[in-house]
Amino acid sequence: MSARARIVGWVLLVAALALTVSVFSTWHILLTRVEDRVNAELFNEVQKLRLYAERSPERDVERVLTGHLQVNAPDRYETFFTILDGRADRRTFAAPLARIDTDDALVARMAAAEKAEYGWADSAAGQVRYAVVPVSDGRRSGAFVIVAFYDYQREEVMDAMRALTVTALVALALAGAAGWLVAGRVLAPIRLVRQTAERISDSTDLTRRLQVSGNDDVAALAATFNHMLDRLENAFAAQRAFVDDAGHELRTPITVIRGHLELMGDDPADRAETIALVTDELARMHRIVDDLLTLAKAGQPDFVVLDDVEPADLTLSVLAKARALGERNWRVDEVADARIRADGQRITQALMQLLANAVRHTTPGDVVAVGSALRADTVLFWVRDSGPGVRPEDRERIFTRFVRDGSREHQGAGLGLAIVRSIAEAHGGHAHVEEAEGGGALFVITLPYVPAEDPFPAPAGNGAEDDCCEPCGDERTEELAR
Ligand SMILES: Nc1ncnc2c1ncn2[C@@H]1O[C@H](COP(=O)(O)OP(=O)(O)OP(=O)(O)O)[C@@H](O)[C@H]1O
Ligand SMILES: [Mg+2]
Repeated sequence: MSARARIVGWVLLVAALALTVSVFSTWHILLTRVEDRVNAELFNEVQKLRLYAERSPERDVERVLTGHLQVNAPDRYETFFTILDGRADRRTFAAPLARIDTDDALVARMAAAEKAEYGWADSAAGQVRYAVVPVSDGRRSGAFVIVAFYDYQREEVMDAMRALTVTALVALALAGAAGWLVAGRVLAPIRLVRQTAERISDSTDLTRRLQVSGNDDVAALAATFNHMLDRLENAFAAQRAFVDDAGHELRTPITVIRGHLELMGDDPADRAETIALVTDELARMHRIVDDLLTLAKAGQPDFVVLDDVEPADLTLSVLAKARALGERNWRVDEVADARIRADGQRITQALMQLLANAVRHTTPGDVVAVGSALRADTVLFWVRDSGPGVRPEDRERIFTRFVRDGSREHQGAGLGLAIVRSIAEAHGGHAHVEEAEGGGALFVITLPYVPAEDPFPAPAGNGAEDDCCEPCGDERTEELAR
């Protein structure tokens, strides 16, 4: 069912319910009023008869009843008659809507009344409401009967109700037609958005955009949709570039391996050399694939898993691991005295990339330092070296994946700094490089400071406690530098 039909359906349903309730309550109120009015009229007539009997000089029952009948004319839907000695005696001159006085059983029941009584009875003119007032002079007994043709009075209400129902149905039809037109007008722009969206998805052309006009909700919807398309287009372009780059990058080691294997001779020494070379290329491919997987995961929500981390421990343990990379003048510049929320493993991964780069760009004896610090509302991690440093014009470029310094003789794929940056960004921070004091490169990861959920260090016996036992300050730096 279309949205338009659904909206109109709901409008009609609600309107029909409201009209039904109002028609029924009006019907009920009017019927109650008719009944009240009939009762009031009967009561009034009963009072009139009593007054007449009291004031009349006549004592004879027959004369009293006939006298009252003569002076008292019934209303439009009324008739009066008298009962004498258990039988209907006289009735009003005007012909009644139906004869009641001919119903002997009813007349006998009325004649038996000992005091004024009200009741319902059926007649040829439908239901009637009556009142019987017994009168007696000691010798003879009679009664005055007032009959109201209730069904006729009710019929007036029914006429009104029929007119009201017809009006309600016409109003409902008009509401439906108006609803159909209004819903059509309101939904037209949305239909346009949908059709355009369909065209875009049919052609898989993400460069197309919806036209945004006005500043209503529909325009906002179109703008949001366009915004989403922008992001999708960028994401697809980035993904395509990523796949192109990755394919291109992996093709080189594959070509190298194939070339060597094809040229491999029977000489054992030659074979051993080729196998060593191929193994080396395969290891490089393995590392590239690992790095690519890390970068591919970078956009996913579980890329970083936050936990309570002590930057001081992390800094020291990273340095301990890095020592295996080569003979350098290893140093700790500073350690942050805080507990923060971060992904310790990812930060370690980023720092190891930076340390591997630093080792690659320095020679034995050069300084490679690592540090962490809490500055205002940021946490800093850095790696500093006394190597050649990075030229100002390259400082932004080298964070792009597959960008590396081709002049240097090394096997890197140019993914390390891209990983560092994506880890920093996944924490809501960023990474950059600047010139270290006295030349060399200073790579800095800046994260927003988020305090640890559990501000107290873990109990004794774990790594944190062990690290606390390391010598502090300069002493520790020297110790680590050895
Ligand atoms: N400490 C440093 N000193 C000078 N230049 C650096 C330093 N670290 C990185 N660079 C430059 O930045 C480039 C990119 O570094 P990145 O870590 O992204 O790639 P890579 O080290 O070449 O390869 P991979 O990390 O994938 O093995 C390097 O090729 C190098 O030219
Ligand atoms: Mg690197």
